[in-house]
Amino acid sequence: MPPSASLDIVLFGATGFTGWITAQYIARLATPNLRWAIAARSKDKLTAKLQELRRLFPDRTPPEIIVAGLDDDSAARLAAAGKVVISTVGPYCRYGSGLVKACAEAGTHYIDCTGEHPWVLDMIEKYDETARRTGALIIPQSAFESAPADLVSYKVVKTIREEYGVGTKDVHFSLHNLNGGASGGTMETFFSVIEVFGLRRIAASSHPLALSPVHKDRPYSFPRHLPVFTHPVLGTLTPWLQGTPDRAIVMRSWGLTEQHAPEQSYGRAFAFTEYKRVKNVLEGVALWATIAVLSVGVLLAPFRWIARRVITQPGSGPSQDFNAHRQGTLEWRAVGVADTNDGKGEKKVLGSFKYDEGDAYALTGLLIVEAALSVLDVQRQREAGTLKEEECLAGRIGGGVLTPASLGEVFLRRLDKVGVKVDAKKL
Ligand SMILES: NC(=O)c1ccc[n+]([C@@H]2O[C@H](COP(=O)([O-])OP(=O)(O)OC[C@H]3O[C@@H](n4cnc5c(N)ncnc54)[C@H](OP(=O)(O)O)[C@@H]3O)[C@@H](O)[C@H]2O)c1
Repeated sequence: MPPSASLDIVLFGATGFTGWITAQYIARLATPNLRWAIAARSKDKLTAKLQELRRLFPDRTPPEIIVAGLDDDSAARLAAAGKVVISTVGPYCRYGSGLVKACAEAGTHYIDCTGEHPWVLDMIEKYDETARRTGALIIPQSAFESAPADLVSYKVVKTIREEYGVGTKDVHFSLHNLNGGASGGTMETFFSVIEVFGLRRIAASSHPLALSPVHKDRPYSFPRHLPVFTHPVLGTLTPWLQGTPDRAIVMRSWGLTEQHAPEQSYGRAFAFTEYKRVKNVLEGVALWATIAVLSVGVLLAPFRWIARRVITQPGSGPSQDFNAHRQGTLEWRAVGVADTNDGKGEKKVLGSFKYDEGDAYALTGLLIVEAALSVLDVQRQREAGTLKEEECLAGRIGGGVLTPASLGEVFLRRLDKVGVKVDAKKL
């Protein structure tokens, strides 16, 4: 951590759609002892946001404002100002690398909500080593993508180890209930990743173990079934859009655990697959076909050109009217199978992640702030010598490009207090 850091949290991108939701989440809990700042490129927009925060939360500590762009000097100033920097400025593959570099070099902790696993691979290759040396905890993909997948897998694996004393063979993870739509920034990111990285790099970073620091002593085992099928516990399922980025992070957690906490191994055979639950086979086939068409379409420049003109523009996104989202819980479920060969049948654990106070963007704001606060907890507990390292891999490793699950019980305890329920039980 830079010695001069006077603020606890610096939020870069507070003027954007996700950033503004995140700023309000921080403001709601900002007690007098929290020192924080909102940062973005436009002084006028920041001033307007500050006034709005003062109006909405008159009895809370207001943030400072920092005007910062994408240049090296701005990145260094942001990294020097806070103990932890949260960035919601994306597409990250276009705008995000300078800030990660600055935080890694300064020893400043960093959290974001990217879902761009090819960019995260880039950040690991370039800055993991530096962050390990300086003690910066750099934790990308800490939001709707890919924290639920990573935390539920962690919880399921832990429960199987505690209940059966063995590793986990596989986790089937399913988006059980979804409400709300996508922001303009998210759609722009979807198009940018293909333009920045190209198909070859995306394919390379999409191997299940591309982000893992260790490799398996046997081939990664992919599930064999039709694109739409019925799981005995999770219902009718089809592969889901977030499957590849989420798997990359879950398998990095697997690899980091193998490397640094082998007594808590997920299991040598461990594999992760993600689906979306659908009402019936017909809906499943329609969703699968839509995803297939989108995945091919996005590779074509004319498709991207047209899509950029007809869909939601950057800066806006789905309504955050609380009442609009009361119709459903945001929920994921997972089934983990114990890696046993005792001839007594399969032993399984059911995991879940539930949030019923808003949509994917509300959850994103909550997750990145609670991850940032968890990182500060880890830092404080390490300095006081009270951190239980067996409960927090990030604390044990001490720095590097890590994962949401590496924050372990420190993160889960915080989430539980704010209404995000992550559970696992024997089936
Ligand atoms: N994977 C997930 O779970 C998840 C969830 C939510 C969001 N996200 C990601 O978060 C990112 C932001 O999404 P969003 O919908 O909030 O986007 P947005 O509304 O377009 O906001 C983007 C932010 O970046 C800033 N920005 C854009 N270009 C910039 C530049 N050249 N220099 C400095 N700042 C710049 C914007 O500043 P101005 O206000 O000045 O334009 C704004 O603050 C996207 O990459 C999206 O994919 C991911």
